[in-house]
This record gives sequence, structure tokens and C-alpha cells, in this order.
Amino acid sequence: MSQLFDVEIICKTEKDTQNLAVDLAKLLPRNSSIALIGDLGMGKTTFVGGLAHGLGILDTVRSPSFNILNIYSSNVSLLHIDAFRLDGSEQATEALMLNDFLVPPYHLVVEWPERLYNFLETCTFKIIFSMNSDFSRTICIRRVRQPSRSTFPQEH
Ligand SMILES: Nc1ncnc2c1ncn2[C@@H]1O[C@H](COP(=O)(O)OP(=O)(O)OP(=O)(O)O)[C@@H](O)[C@H]1O
Ligand SMILES: [Mg+2]
Repeated sequence: MSQLFDVEIICKTEKDTQNLAVDLAKLLPRNSSIALIGDLGMGKTTFVGGLAHGLGILDTVRSPSFNILNIYSSNVSLLHIDAFRLDGSEQATEALMLNDFLVPPYHLVVEWPERLYNFLETCTFKIIFSMNSDFSRTICIRRVRQPSRSTFPQEH
């Protein structure tokens, strides 16, 4: 098992957060689905920027709050969802038509995953962000499942 699949790391700076994500990106199994769990301003989008960089994606990653879904292409596609404005309902999640975009190989990474129906129950990684008193971030990476074809969204 990779040494980054079950760790808790303190990131003192934005650059540390990005570098951790760059390292993880190189180890991710194909078709990973990643929940980024943490309050406003914890560094979730910063982490996605590092994932993109680690996958060789040159675009600048910005919060997709307006679009909800951004897609970046490399030899794998990176789908970035910011579910902040969704309500967690099955209908709102189905309206994103993710099945059309989840063409393997991909990695799907979700900010505010509790607002995307069934995501926390099916994702393959949970990454939990918290802030320390010196404003550094503690980032816990947990591999919770193996990727499988039907990981997310689940077929009915
Ligand atoms: N390890 C770190 N130490 C200190 N500051 C950090 C760290 N990682 C990220 N930041 C800073 O935290 C701020 C918020 O980052 P970011 O936008 O990535 O958070 P977010 O979790 O995506 O927020 P939101 O919930 O609003 O989407 C940015 O100014 C970023 O530079
Ligand atoms: Mg964000």
C-alpha cells in the first residue's frame, strides 16, 4: 500500500498543501473518487491545483463554484466538482449528468462532498482538512475503498 494512502500531515503553507497533492496524484489508482472534507478556506481548491499539477495538467485550477463542474484533460481527465451550492438531493446530483463525463481513465475530486448524493458512501479516498492554531493545516488522507467500475454514480 502506498505510504500516502493513510497519513496525517501538517502543511504549513499553501505550497506544502500543493506539494502533498502533487505527490498523491502520482500514486492514485485509475478512476479514483476523492472527497475533500473541510470547512471554508481550508485549502481544498489549493489541493486540487496540486493534483492537477501532479497529473501534468497545465491549466490553473480555480474554484468551480459558478459552474459546479470543471474538467481538465491530460492522459487522465480530472473532474473537479464544488458541490457547495447543491442540496444533497438525488435530483440535483443527477442533473450534473456525471455518467456522461466519467469516461475512464479519470479522477473525480469533490469539494463539499456531503452535498453530492451518495458520494461519501461510495468514494475511494477521504481527505480531511483542518486548521491549527498557527493557521497551518492538518491534512488526513484515508483510502476507504478500492476503485470499481460502479463506484460513482451508482447505477440504478
Ligand atoms: N497549508 C496551508 N497553510 C496556510 N494557508 C493555506 C494552506 N493551504 C491553503 N492555504 C490558503 O487558504 C486559503 C483558502 O484556500 P482554498 O481556496 O484552497 O480553500 P477551500 O477549502 O477551497 O475554500 P472553499 O471552502 O471556500 O472552497 C488560500 O488563501 C490558500 O492560500
Ligand atoms: Mg474551494
